[in-house]
Amino acid sequence: MTQFWTDTVKRLTPYVPGEQRSGENITKLNTNENPYPPSPAVMQAIGNVSADALRRYPDPESVQLREALAAYHGVALENVFVGNGSDEILALAFLAFFTHEKALQYPDITYSFYPVYCDLYSIESQVISLEDNYSLSMDRFVPNAGSIIFPNPNAPTGLATPRDAIAALLKKHTEQVLLVDEAYADLGAQSVVGLVNEHPNLLVSQTFSKGRSLAGMRLGVAFGDKALIEGLQRVKNSFNSYPVDAIAQAVGIASIEDETYYKKTLSQIIESRDWTTEQLRSRGFEVLPSSANFIFARVPQQTSGKGSEPAAYELFQRLSAAGVLVRYWKKPRLEDWLRISIGTSADMHRLMDCIDA
Ligand SMILES: Cc1ncc(COP(=O)(O)O)c(C=O)c1O
Repeated sequence: MTQFWTDTVKRLTPYVPGEQRSGENITKLNTNENPYPPSPAVMQAIGNVSADALRRYPDPESVQLREALAAYHGVALENVFVGNGSDEILALAFLAFFTHEKALQYPDITYSFYPVYCDLYSIESQVISLEDNYSLSMDRFVPNAGSIIFPNPNAPTGLATPRDAIAALLKKHTEQVLLVDEAYADLGAQSVVGLVNEHPNLLVSQTFSKGRSLAGMRLGVAFGDKALIEGLQRVKNSFNSYPVDAIAQAVGIASIEDETYYKKTLSQIIESRDWTTEQLRSRGFEVLPSSANFIFARVPQQTSGKGSEPAAYELFQRLSAAGVLVRYWKKPRLEDWLRISIGTSADMHRLMDCIDA
């Protein structure tokens, strides 16, 4: 009975995740999942979790996992925060750092969870337009006017912002938080984790969901100055002390320790990304140069376009009917484009066969 909802709940427009259709003949290229399984060491770590570890509450501060992440990234334990997926970390960060009077700045075309969190916490926003070529110019942000968040690489474009450009923005923007969402940074963008010790207002979030094949585990991480991490801990401990369970803590450590497997699967994805980009371009698609595990492709009009719907929508529907799922948004500047996650080589061959059919 919706009459029991609070006014806040009534006005929410929740985030809609990509379709999780499964079955024999489905090729899922719509939620930027990794097509390869997690490292065998991860599966072994799950098997090794003791009954005692499940009986007891997990370490609320995930110290061993944070130590492993700190050593991997060359920062201190106090600079690392972990959460139940990076979405949860973003939700905590919005509450910890963005709920003041000044409007939060983020790109007009970006991860669609940002406006949802603004809505949830009643945060004003100021959208920053992408350039005509869909790149994100740091010069468009107004330093210190309000906090800033953007993904690097951006989603759904896949375009990366160079580290030097972010560093230049940080020189001017010192009074408010800058949150760089590096969910896809291990697939080609330059991470700014190394800058957190120089900039007390820089927070960087990353995830185990993409490059590390652990979307189902829900594990995210943030790096920042000690005071920013403490701010996140204060919010976490006012909401849920144990967001990262015992299995996820063990899995995170095992994943970090198997660098060889991680690097191998990343390079396989990058190889398939390059192949798919080339194949689509040869068929007249415009494909933005991606630094992520997905590509953003403008569908040529001649592919279909006979009806009144955009050619991209018609192709999206045709692929969906054939069991190949990609992502489509019927929105200004996006309606001619498809976002296609990178699957295995066989997945990408099937995609091309369906496009050609
Ligand atoms: C830009 C961006 N940030 C954050 C996330 C959240 O990732 P997770 O909650 O799985 O860590 C996603 C997921 O698709 C994303 O695209």
